Amino acid sequence: MRLVLVGPPGAGKGTQAEIIAERLGIPKISTGDIFRANVSGGTPLGLKAKEYMDAGELVPDEVTNEMVADRLAQDDAKDGFLLDGYPRNTEQAKVLDGILDEAGVVLDTAVELVASDDEVVRRLSGRRVSKSTGKVYHLEFDPPADPDSDDLYQRSDDKPETVKHRLEVYAEQTAPLVGFYEKQGKLVEIDAIGEVAEVTERALAAIGAAE
Ligand code: AP5
Ligand code: ZN
Repeated sequence: MRLVLVGPPGAGKGTQAEIIAERLGIPKISTGDIFRANVSGGTPLGLKAKEYMDAGELVPDEVTNEMVADRLAQDDAKDGFLLDGYPRNTEQAKVLDGILDEAGVVLDTAVELVASDDEVVRRLSGRRVSKSTGKVYHLEFDPPADPDSDDLYQRSDDKPETVKHRLEVYAEQTAPLVGFYEKQGKLVEIDAIGEVAEVTERALAAIGAAE
């Protein structure tokens, strides 16, 4: 299956992508994760992306599109994938359609995770990530064993003023994607409020992959 996950910052895209990709046996491709790995590795790509990420802005399309095209060309993505955080504007969505078209395949479904601004702010303010394992926790909803551990960090773009800007960028640049995929008849909307497992079941049911 070829899927994209759309939704505001903190809607739970990364959390759901991990579980759904595993359940469907397809790779999870998260542009945010790839950028963050490059930032921490100090690569040229990371250097290009860092200032945009810290400001809560989108990384320029040419950088992002090339990175995704390279990733989708890898063998493990040939039979399916779940994209988390890409596309993020209609330009990227058109580029993705072009990449798939050239490969002679089509996108199956765009899954939109719907959550209010209040809820995503709550989720982002409590998010903590483990340095050693990369696991994402929430201080209240999925608490780590030791919330004061030095192993935990807060993402640099989860500062309240950056979160506010990321939400504006979502509304202006990413939300129009919903209409783009609706017109293609590929959009399913999922209520992202509730337990993680409930949201997963809703998503699997909507894409016709429920057990
Ligand atoms: P990216 O990493 O994609 O960030 P984002 O879209 O802002 O989304 P988040 O990762 O903040 O949230 P999420 O929806 O994954 O939520 P999560 O599952 O972690 O992008 C970061 C930056 O990279 C961008 O700002 C941009 O600069 C750049 N970038 C990335 N892609 C790009 C692109 N295509 N083009 C250009 N630039 C790009 O969950 C959040 C918290 O909530 C966690 O603590 C989790 O435990 C908790 N939680 C999850 N589900 C639930 C639930 N059901 N109930 C309660 N808590 C929950
Ligand atoms: Zn994420």
